[in-house]
Amino acid sequence: MTEFATRVEDVSISGIREVFEAAGEDAINLGIGQPDFPTPGHARRAAIEAIESGQVDAYTSNKGIRQLREAIATKYDRDYGIEVDPEHAIATSGGSEALHLALEAHVDPGQEVIFPDPGFVSYDALTRFAGGTPKPLSLREDLTLDPAAVEEAITDETAAFIVNSPSNPTGAVQSEADMREFARIADEHDVLCISDEVYEHIVFEGEHHSPLKFAETDNVIVVSACSKTYSMTGWRLGWLVGSGDRIERMVRVHQYAQACASAPAQFAAEAALTGPQDPVDEMVAAFEERRDIVVDGLVDAGLEVPTPSGAFYAMPKVPEGWCEELLDRGVVVVPGDAFGANGAGYARLSYATGMEDLKEALEIMDDVTTAVQ
Ligand SMILES: Cc1ncc(COP(=O)(O)O)c(C=O)c1O
Repeated sequence: MTEFATRVEDVSISGIREVFEAAGEDAINLGIGQPDFPTPGHARRAAIEAIESGQVDAYTSNKGIRQLREAIATKYDRDYGIEVDPEHAIATSGGSEALHLALEAHVDPGQEVIFPDPGFVSYDALTRFAGGTPKPLSLREDLTLDPAAVEEAITDETAAFIVNSPSNPTGAVQSEADMREFARIADEHDVLCISDEVYEHIVFEGEHHSPLKFAETDNVIVVSACSKTYSMTGWRLGWLVGSGDRIERMVRVHQYAQACASAPAQFAAEAALTGPQDPVDEMVAAFEERRDIVVDGLVDAGLEVPTPSGAFYAMPKVPEGWCEELLDRGVVVVPGDAFGANGAGYARLSYATGMEDLKEALEIMDDVTTAVQ
């Protein structure tokens, strides 16, 4: 009988899914990693018009329609003053596929990939799929990734290190100085830096900085997506930006695995990127208001939590049994160890949830913290 491939046997289903499956139907779900806002109307309409005019009945070019890649290039100039050639961008099926292409194209069997722990669940799994060896790295006390720790972890076997700011699951935002350091490390050690920037616009304090801006070599590639910024998780539209050589290698994987990103989603993404950005500002303002309530509520409950400066997650330290007790009382959060061994003793709360539910959940957390301590 055909056995299953070791690379899939080595990877289990995300711990996040397990929690959802254990939750009752009426539970307040603070486990979800997607905004609770609608996709902007102009993005939806662009897709509808593209469908009705027959423009999306066929494959697009592998890299995606030219006007979307131009919109991506314009966005980097507008937001960060970074010059991107539209030929050096690939539209992908979400940030997830972009990460997959980046690792498949750069990691040889046995090579190491360094990433934050706790960190986004895909980094470990996609490294294994690429035949690589995961090298999870613990974080600073404020839950940011220390460039000095990355530099120390680099060996002759390192294929890449992944930076994720703002971060899932911590909500931490790396400083400009850190991003300059990540770029320097990529340049000096001649190691690829994969910068996962899918939460780039959800920043409350300071600004997002991309290491792409500071690198002097082509050793930084950027992953981003419409998913979080424009509340378009279901559309499956992300992208990769990098040098011509790197894009050419990544498109080889994309061509055979995907052919092209979904055409209607490409038209929606172009409209989202080029249209009015007010829906993003409104969503970020709502997240900031909720962030303040969540942090205040957790601190009042007696929990330690670094104030997250971005994304829509908070990651408090929690006592043993806290997540399970909360689940029993109808509130879903994700235990921190779903994001890596160093996440043990933490929980990830998503506040992409209405204010009333959040307030009710915080009251239950207060009770549970007293009960389990
Ligand atoms: C840090 C991070 N990177 C990438 C992704 C993948 O995003 P997408 O939905 O665009 O595939 C996610 C989704 O949760 C994420 O949190």
